[in-house]
Amino acid sequence: MAESTGRRGPRPDAAHERGGAPSPDWEQLERWDRAYYLHNVQAQGQWPWLAVERQAGNYLYLSNGASLLDFQSQLISDSLGHCHPGIYGEITRAMERYGHVFFGMGHEYRARAAKLVIEDVLGGERGWAGRLRVLASGTEAVENCITLARLYTGRTLILTQAHSYHGLTVGATMLRGYRNNLTPGGHPDEVRDVPGFPAHGYIPIPPPEHADYAGPLPLPSLVATEHIIRTLGARNVAAVITEPMFGAGGLAPHPAYMPGLRDLSKRHGFLWIDDEVLCGFGRLGEWFGYQLHPGVEPDLMAVGKSINGSSLPCGAVVASKAIAEFFDQARWWSGSTWDGHPLVCASIVGALETMLADNVLERVRARGRYLRERLDHLAARHPSVGRVAGHGLYHAVDLVDAQGRPIVAEDRYTAFLGDLTDHPNNVVARECAARGVFLGGFVPNTIKVGPPFTISEAEIDAGLAAFDAALSVVDARWC
Ligand SMILES: Cc1ncc(COP(=O)(O)O)c(C=O)c1O
Repeated sequence: MAESTGRRGPRPDAAHERGGAPSPDWEQLERWDRAYYLHNVQAQGQWPWLAVERQAGNYLYLSNGASLLDFQSQLISDSLGHCHPGIYGEITRAMERYGHVFFGMGHEYRARAAKLVIEDVLGGERGWAGRLRVLASGTEAVENCITLARLYTGRTLILTQAHSYHGLTVGATMLRGYRNNLTPGGHPDEVRDVPGFPAHGYIPIPPPEHADYAGPLPLPSLVATEHIIRTLGARNVAAVITEPMFGAGGLAPHPAYMPGLRDLSKRHGFLWIDDEVLCGFGRLGEWFGYQLHPGVEPDLMAVGKSINGSSLPCGAVVASKAIAEFFDQARWWSGSTWDGHPLVCASIVGALETMLADNVLERVRARGRYLRERLDHLAARHPSVGRVAGHGLYHAVDLVDAQGRPIVAEDRYTAFLGDLTDHPNNVVARECAARGVFLGGFVPNTIKVGPPFTISEAEIDAGLAAFDAALSVVDARWC
């Protein structure tokens, strides 16, 4: 794959970027990586060697001399492009003074990061948010939200949506959706779940209706969810956890869904955990996805990715004022070596100060409108495009066959069985990569268009030209 991937052309002087250091031996590195690294998602034998030599701006420069326009911000994560000076400058300055400081001590960057999030982004006194804790990943933020919700309410059950994704540690895996299962070697059609799945305490609820749902209201998903709540007994439910727009599943919920779900949680007296790891900090054209729905605010929020442009491993929890106050009075035995790491907090400070100074929301909205207009043009010309849905700089494109059905029938219920190489998402990824663009999807029929906030209109045109060509291949094959 690497040989046919990327666009060759003028590129920055790589040796200069390495400070004159000699070029690494990429063949040797490939042998070590194949021999010793514990890869995920693909079996070892299927692993494509797609090595990135360096990154800059919105581009990845590959070891084979080619480059890729990153039209997906890696995992819809690297929101300010790669190696943004506003972030890396702050990390570099922090490194002159700090290594690791354990959570029992304070430091400059933890205080500044908390002030930026709670006061400058979330409105301080006027807002709902009380406190921030900085952790090592979005998954850890989700785990902490669940524990906080259970300790605060004294209840066990967590409602979790089909098609959702919240991370792959043992607890987060139990949150339904894409769940750490194994397809054993030699058994391409077998699903082997992590023993113990599904676990006590995690209750699946239906996925939301799509944004273009035109059926009756109230939404059937919310009616079914309320039946589940009544069956379980609301007094046993600690929280519901949702994504504003699904990251892995690429599903933009109907606009009535989030307000309706929040109403359910208020009427039945349980918490709402809003997982904003992928959508938070600007991706949907608002600081957070919940702000697309006026009057709706969460109790707990898990964030990550864009909080520091994914420059260093990071996640964080935001607790409401009421929950923060409850834990202020208590002694909670929690913590990790990495809580509030100075360099990670410096990366948050760098990213948020850059985003605030550059008025990032305006930029995301303007570029997002441009992107959506052009995606709608593509949809009008390609019969394989069944739906375009999203906000800001995150749009999901669902691919269908000549009858308008999902090309891979399991669609978002996929367990990733059989030969995946010919799934439409992988066909699109290959065709785009051959044209110098990094773009694909996670579930088989959905392409996730999520370029960095630093993308220009010309780069949007370039990314979509590759996608256009890839869609012609999909049309010819399935429509
Ligand atoms: C919505 C959502 N929650 C949680 C996670 C897990 O975050 P991390 O990969 O930083 O552990 C992700 C990762 O993609 C995500 O999209």
